Amino acid sequence: MNVNDVEISWSVLKNSGYTRTSELGQADVILMMTCSIRDGAEQKIWRKLNILKQYKKKRQRNSENLPPLKIGILGCMAERLKSKILEQEKMVDLVCGPDAYKDLPRMLAVTESGQTAVNVLLSLDETYADVMPVRLNENSPSAFVSIMRGCDNMCSYCIVPFTRGRERNEVRMLSDQGIKEVTLLGQNVNSYRDTSDSTIHNSIDTKLTPGFKTVYKPKTGGRRFSDLLDKVSQIDPEMRIRFTSPHPKDFPDEVLDLIKERSNICNQIHLPAQSGNSEVLQRMRRGYTREAYLDLVYHIRHRIPDVYLSSDFIAGFCEETELEHEDTVSLMKEVKYHVVYSFPYSMRQKTSAYHRLKDNVPDDVKSRRHLQLRDLFRQEALKLNLKEIGSTQLILIEGESKRSPLDMAGRNDGNVKVIVPNTNIPESCADISTRKIQRGDYVVVKIRSANSQVLHGIPLYHTSLTEFYNKDNLITEQLCQSSAL
Ligand code: 5AD
Ligand code: SF4
Repeated sequence: MNVNDVEISWSVLKNSGYTRTSELGQADVILMMTCSIRDGAEQKIWRKLNILKQYKKKRQRNSENLPPLKIGILGCMAERLKSKILEQEKMVDLVCGPDAYKDLPRMLAVTESGQTAVNVLLSLDETYADVMPVRLNENSPSAFVSIMRGCDNMCSYCIVPFTRGRERNEVRMLSDQGIKEVTLLGQNVNSYRDTSDSTIHNSIDTKLTPGFKTVYKPKTGGRRFSDLLDKVSQIDPEMRIRFTSPHPKDFPDEVLDLIKERSNICNQIHLPAQSGNSEVLQRMRRGYTREAYLDLVYHIRHRIPDVYLSSDFIAGFCEETELEHEDTVSLMKEVKYHVVYSFPYSMRQKTSAYHRLKDNVPDDVKSRRHLQLRDLFRQEALKLNLKEIGSTQLILIEGESKRSPLDMAGRNDGNVKVIVPNTNIPESCADISTRKIQRGDYVVVKIRSANSQVLHGIPLYHTSLTEFYNKDNLITEQLCQSSAL
């Protein structure tokens, strides 16, 4: 989401004639995109601000001919801490919340006269639908498409509804720029409902997953997430589609069936559990129990047997006992995730947990539980990855491996990183002419080794997504794969 926000802000500034530099020494304006979700993210920004303040003073002393350096804070922290930033950080010239990026050129003009510019107004209809984001990494074959902003869920620990406002819809599509992978982005992507198009009269109500409830009235009418996924996946059959982050409450069978049927919708679902204990889940106001969550996992696995699941967990939430934590451990063992993000709980002002609950798990206990979850995830992910050895997979190449220029790195359908040596390989399964592997290529890879984070493999030949999944090609492909080896 933050990357997408930088892309939007940058697009606005570029249209007003600003140019971008990655050299600190060349910059006359420095803008920092910030996040408020956990205290750690905010501390990082305070530290960076201190460094920048020193830099600004030094520049003013040393180079009188240069225009005064402007420092701006963008995003959720600007929204949450506007007065604190303005009082404490006299060096900050601009404070711009997540709905005000279009106002950046005016705000920068205001700072020219030495004033501080502030716009942290949240808006229900700012979707940035008319801003074409400038992609930060133009070489990457993957892009994000923001389909909504904000969140209506009101989980008791979460700051998002207060910093980003409530939910809005937005669809933007890029396909003819040669992009091979799009991730639909939102705080709650699968509760998406686009009611802006009055020609769509959809009488089908949103069906919540059995055993799940919401604090708000589910939206009705308009285009559902499954309709959007259906449409987006048809734009370009060579483009992989992912989506993040969904809430487990809305996984209708239509979405699951689309994932199974469409070869370009990745078989990967992020299913944030947050805890494996029903009492903790209730305190978190997640709207489901451990049992309902597990039922959903079994239901998904039944419909999409080879699905890759990932999750988020919070360690040491308010009043979490050792036994409650053990339930999270056992849930992780039971589900077996390919990827888990775990976070020590950090109390956020304004949230209902801040008002109603006690943040009484000591820091060392939070940290121990968090590390335990992280280690367990690594053990389980290693087991899952080892099972992939010997399989043949379709990899979308993202570029050179960070570790060695002799290797290329890509991702499989489940979003797991796969490293292959960069050798010449046949143009296709039935071709003898060969060429090097490049960013954006689809390559068939035989997996040879694995650790908990990465798979290593031998590249067999170039292919396309449609060719790889075309069942009619299956026999030829199998012959190719064995002869290539
Ligand atoms: N403390 C710790 N983790 C949090 N998350 C959200 N709010 C908090 C908080 N106050 C985690 C959740 C969410 C992920 C994006 O961040 O696990 O899914
Ligand atoms: Fe961070 Fe939440 Fe804001 Fe995203 S919406 S930047 S996760 S605080």
